[in-house]
Amino acid sequence: MSDLKGKYAVVTGGARGIGAAVVKRFVAEGAAGVAIWDYDESAAKETAALYPGDRVLAIRCDVSDRENVKRCAEQTMEAFGRIDILVNNAGICRDALFVNMSEDQWDKVLRTNLNGTYYCTAEVVPGMIASGYGKIVNISSSAAHGNVGQANYSASKAAILGLTKTLARELAAKGITVNAVSPCFIETDMMNGIPETLSQTILRMIPMRRMGTTDELAGAVLFLAGDDSRFVTGIELPVNGGMFT
Ligand SMILES: NC(=O)c1ccc[n+]([C@@H]2O[C@H](COP(=O)([O-])OP(=O)(O)OC[C@H]3O[C@@H](n4cnc5c(N)ncnc54)[C@H](O)[C@@H]3O)[C@@H](O)[C@H]2O)c1
Repeated sequence: MSDLKGKYAVVTGGARGIGAAVVKRFVAEGAAGVAIWDYDESAAKETAALYPGDRVLAIRCDVSDRENVKRCAEQTMEAFGRIDILVNNAGICRDALFVNMSEDQWDKVLRTNLNGTYYCTAEVVPGMIASGYGKIVNISSSAAHGNVGQANYSASKAAILGLTKTLARELAAKGITVNAVSPCFIETDMMNGIPETLSQTILRMIPMRRMGTTDELAGAVLFLAGDDSRFVTGIELPVNGGMFT
């Protein structure tokens, strides 16, 4: 499959984890350019340096800051001339039981995961409408359907599904598809903080008895970012080893 030939993409949170695997896959599938929008500038630069030439750009971006996102979009447009694909992947969690959750924990997660997705999407959609082509892939989570200790994260990821399904309908006739991928338990830094006993419990809950890899997640994103999915819009694609909650 090489249907990303000539395409320009933005991957938020592309410095590491799932985002970095998506960048790798997009480059391998022939994307003309990939911009990493990540607030960890040195990690973004390290990831971009893995690829020769100027094909992968590292741009310091805090997706929760609207003005910052605007500047990153301008910088990307100067370099690439257009953005065909947007992967809204940047995300954080600040877990606590709801009764113990601070307003700061709530705000930080909602501002990054939900507002960040909104700001980045709002910056790229007008250009996609003008060109009559666009692929937006939002990274939600199996936690969108509820998870103890993650009221903030779950609310942000469920809202992303609502945004995805609404934009899919509003933008379908403009040549733009909008879909979501919902991972559960992919081996990344986000999962590394989990205590050993909890990860053993998690493994017993996953029918495939293992966590997913970032490459497996990137494959699902590639399908929704490429032309093989041109008649697919508004879906939530679970990538979860059979673990439905
Ligand atoms: N790993 C999992 O099992 C899992 C499960 C479900 C959903 N997800 C979702 O997948 C996405 C990627 O997760 P991951 O596991 O690769 O996480 P990660 O922590 O390994 O990487 C996240 C990346 O996002 C960047 N980032 C965080 N806040 C940002 C901000 N405000 N602006 C710009 N960049 C920012 C970080 O610097 C980092 O490079 C997230 O949206 C996460 O919620 C992950």
